[in-house]
Amino acid sequence: MATTIRDIAQKTGLSVSTVSLVLNHKKHRISKETCDRVFAAAKEMNYHPNHAAVSLITKRTKAIGLIIPDITNMFFAEIAKGAETRCQELGFSVFLCNTNDKPEKDVEYVNVLLDRGVDGFLLVTSFNASENMAAECFKALRPTEKPIVLVDRVVSTEEYGTSLPCVQSDNELGGYLATKHLLELGHRSIGCITGPMGAQSSQHRLFGHIRALQEAGITFNPALVREGNYHTQTGFSLSSELLDQGVTAIFACNDMMAYGVYRQASQRGMRVPEDLSIVGFDDLPFSEFAEAPLTTVKQPAYLIGECAASKIIGMINNPGEVQENVQFKPELIVRKSTSKPNQHKGAGIL
Ligand code: RIB
Repeated sequence: MATTIRDIAQKTGLSVSTVSLVLNHKKHRISKETCDRVFAAAKEMNYHPNHAAVSLITKRTKAIGLIIPDITNMFFAEIAKGAETRCQELGFSVFLCNTNDKPEKDVEYVNVLLDRGVDGFLLVTSFNASENMAAECFKALRPTEKPIVLVDRVVSTEEYGTSLPCVQSDNELGGYLATKHLLELGHRSIGCITGPMGAQSSQHRLFGHIRALQEAGITFNPALVREGNYHTQTGFSLSSELLDQGVTAIFACNDMMAYGVYRQASQRGMRVPEDLSIVGFDDLPFSEFAEAPLTTVKQPAYLIGECAASKIIGMINNPGEVQENVQFKPELIVRKSTSKPNQHKGAGIL
C-alpha cells in the first residue's frame, strides 16, 4: 500500500496540512527542523506523490514540457540542465522533447505534451532554411491557455494572439563583438556562416556582423555570407566556398559550424590562426580544447534555462502574472584561433 500524506502526519504527529505544505513545496512559515522531520519520514516510508490523484483534484501535473531542436548540441543540453535543475528545486518535473531541428516535430511534441497534461511549455523552436511551424504550435496551444516561455529563439506570436516572454542572449551584440574582434586584428576580408535564417538568432548575429563592418567603413559584401544550419557539416562545406574567395577570417555563427571550418582548414593544409582566423558562437565546453582553442562568443546557456524555468513556474503558480523578456549579455572569449592576417599569405612563406 502506497504511503500517503496522512500516514506521514500520523508518523510525525504533525497535521496533514503541515505535511502537505512541506511536501508540495508551497509557500509556508514552517521551521526548517519540522521540514527536515517531514522529509526524513517521507524518505523512510518511501513516499511518492500520487500525481494522477493530485492532478485530478488540482488539474495540474506539476510537469513542464521542454522542447529543444538538437540534444546533440551541448548548448541545448546546458539549457535543459539549467531548466531541469530549477524545476526540480521548485517541485516540478520536466518532459524533454528533441525535435532534431525538424519543424514539423515541434507541432507533434506540443500535442504529445498537451496529451500528457503538462502545466506549461518551454519552447526552443526549430527552423530550417525555409520554414518554421511556430504558428501551428500556437494554433494548438492557444485554446488551452497553458503558459509558454520562448527560449533562445524569438518567433512571431501573431497566431497565439498575445506576446510571449522570451529568454535569450543579445545575438546582435554577439555578432558585433565577433566581427569587431577580427577587424581590430586587421582582417578586412571576413566570411560569415549564419545559422538557418528562419531563426531570429541567426538573423540578429548577421545584423551585428554587418554593423561592425559598416562601423569600420567596410562595405558589406553579401558574397562573403553563406547560410548554414548550425550543424558541423555546413561549417565544413560552406567555409570551402568562402576560402575560395580568399577570406582571411571566418565568423561561424555557432561553435558546431566553427568545428567544421577547422576541418576544412586542416584539409587544405591551412594553419589556424596563422593562415585562417576562426570565431564561433556559444562557447561549448569542447571549444577551449580545440587544437587552436576557439575564440568564441559565450552565451550563458545554463542561466538561460534556469531563468526560463523560473518564469514558467511563476506563470503557472500565479496565472495572469506578466513576465518580462530577459536578454543576457554575451561575452567575447578570446583564445588561440584568431590572430593578425598572414601578411605573407600567397607568397609561399609558411
Ligand atoms: O548552436 C545552436 C544555436 O542555435 C545557438 O547559437 C543558439 O543560440 C541557437 O539559436
